[in-house]
Amino acid sequence: MTARRDRLLEEMGLGPVWRLRRPPEGAAETDADAPRAGATGASDRAAAIMRMDWTELGAAVAACEACKLAKTRTHAVLGVGDLHAEWLLVGEAPGAEEDARGEPFVGQAGRLLDNMLAAIGLRRGDNVYIANVLKCRPPGNRNPEPFEVAQCVPFLERQIELIRPKLIVAMGRFAAQTLAGSDASIASLRGRVHRYRGVPLVVTYHPAYLLRNLPDKAKAWEDLVLARRTMRELGGRVPG
Ligand code: URA
Repeated sequence: MTARRDRLLEEMGLGPVWRLRRPPEGAAETDADAPRAGATGASDRAAAIMRMDWTELGAAVAACEACKLAKTRTHAVLGVGDLHAEWLLVGEAPGAEEDARGEPFVGQAGRLLDNMLAAIGLRRGDNVYIANVLKCRPPGNRNPEPFEVAQCVPFLERQIELIRPKLIVAMGRFAAQTLAGSDASIASLRGRVHRYRGVPLVVTYHPAYLLRNLPDKAKAWEDLVLARRTMRELGGRVPG
């Protein structure tokens, strides 16, 4: 296991010689402060990530230095929940509390998320997995940068491959746009079922946004009802 993990980390440009190598190929935007990942290039890094098991993925995320967020994080936050969940919820990036504790959605937005889940009979960890597009906190909760998303998204892709959820709920603009492969607004993406690599995808507002925009809670409720109906149609477990 250790040898395999070392080889995968090496292929990802996280091995001991990564500082000596070229920048990733195909990285349209470069991050001035990012370590220069290996001769393998961005697509080989992604391919290496796509072969990882959960242990390897956890180690790779914890050790990741692919963008400058590594310098300011306390914890990289992989995700939490049932590794065989039918429901996968995806947010944007850890905030201050998540960075401190190493778990997604444990702050104020997380409490609202738990209430939203409870409203449709779901509970964190029970047939539910929660992850973010970015595994590290952007300082001051600024928006993720395109380079950061590009570097981090293979981790989420691998999580989705390993979990094989029946349904994904993308919360907020970054998760929605990343998974729907669109730059449209949440308002125009919500209300219908998209697909992420064949997996049905429902888009809704981010809980942190809902804390500031209470009237949109009704729309988020409609989105959850759509998600629950879609899960029922897919033959998944729907409480109540
Ligand atoms: N906001 C997110 O998008 N994710 C978290 O984990 C916390 C807040």
